[in-house]
Amino acid sequence: KQDNLILAFESSADETSAAVVKNGHEILSNIVATQIASHQRFGGIVPEVASRHHLEWINRVTKEALQEASVTDPAAQLSAVAATYGPGLVGSLLIGLMAGKTFAMVHGLPFIAVNHLAGHISAANFVQPTSYPAMAVMVSGGHTELLWMAKENSFQIIGTTLDDAAGEAFDKVGRILGLNYPAGKEMQEMAAKGQANIHFPIAHTENTFDFSFSGLKSSVLNYVHHADQLSEQINKNDVAASFQKAVVEAIIEKTEAAIQVFQPVQLLLGGGVAANLALRTAIEHLAQTYHLKLTEAPISLAGDNAAMIGAAAYLNFKAGRFSGLDLNTDPSLNF
Ligand code: KG4
Ligand code: ZN
Repeated sequence: KQDNLILAFESSADETSAAVVKNGHEILSNIVATQIASHQRFGGIVPEVASRHHLEWINRVTKEALQEASVTDPAAQLSAVAATYGPGLVGSLLIGLMAGKTFAMVHGLPFIAVNHLAGHISAANFVQPTSYPAMAVMVSGGHTELLWMAKENSFQIIGTTLDDAAGEAFDKVGRILGLNYPAGKEMQEMAAKGQANIHFPIAHTENTFDFSFSGLKSSVLNYVHHADQLSEQINKNDVAASFQKAVVEAIIEKTEAAIQVFQPVQLLLGGGVAANLALRTAIEHLAQTYHLKLTEAPISLAGDNAAMIGAAAYLNFKAGRFSGLDLNTDPSLNF
């Protein structure tokens, strides 16, 4: 096979996605079926509803992904099949993983299991190749990790969240302000119209690169309740702007501290929250200050999608890391 084409599946949370990725950095197709609307009235993902949706959509997104990539003979055209096996919701992961393993078996193709978090980081590969050693900032709805990457496809957690993930904090504060789930994007839009004039303190975890966002969330909650009790009007845009500023500051503070100790040559930004423009601006500034190369996941690929899984799978393919068809999901997989 001249080119390496990988069919990839992603179904760890509330997006059902299939993609075909060429040589690890070119998207031939990336079909994402989102089920956010089904979960909104519950204010979060309902696992049972999620797996049912994945089951309903998986065949359709697969067919579309193959069609759009002009894959008519999978056994001849594809080099491998990949799927996310963790972390995520077990019932959701199962659908994409089963689809991937089945497709691989039927067409006699090797199977590659992918870590969802490595997928988020690999979205950077659609922009440019990474230089090592690198430091990755992985911020999503379920995770907030500072990762040290001494070389390609090697991850060492040097900081994580002690409580809420960054995206989770956006979603919970959004809920306090009456927004729908997931609230990150709308919070950003409100923040752009407001002033960051309220002081919400961020946690300064001592001597570690760990994050903590639950105190910040509580202080927003207290602020809103206090105003409620006094029947005072709050400016929700100002609350959003002040909260966003605090989250960005917290992420930058720990990333900067880690840069000083680890001295990477490159920064990577990935995960759903990497779509946040205030965070992007701040990390761009940080990279400039320390003369570091920076790759941010493209905004359109920051959230969950199968293309990033295909990009990560390519690195495993090159390293000869394949998985057996007896592989199971690992809902609490880390690195
Ligand atoms: O990576 P992702 O799609 O799913 C997980 O693996 O968790 O991340 C989703 C998270 C949600 O919490 C969502 O509110 C947040 O990313 N998010 C944002 C923005 N866009 C999505 N947070 C802040 N600003 C945004 N523009
Ligand atoms: Zn994700």
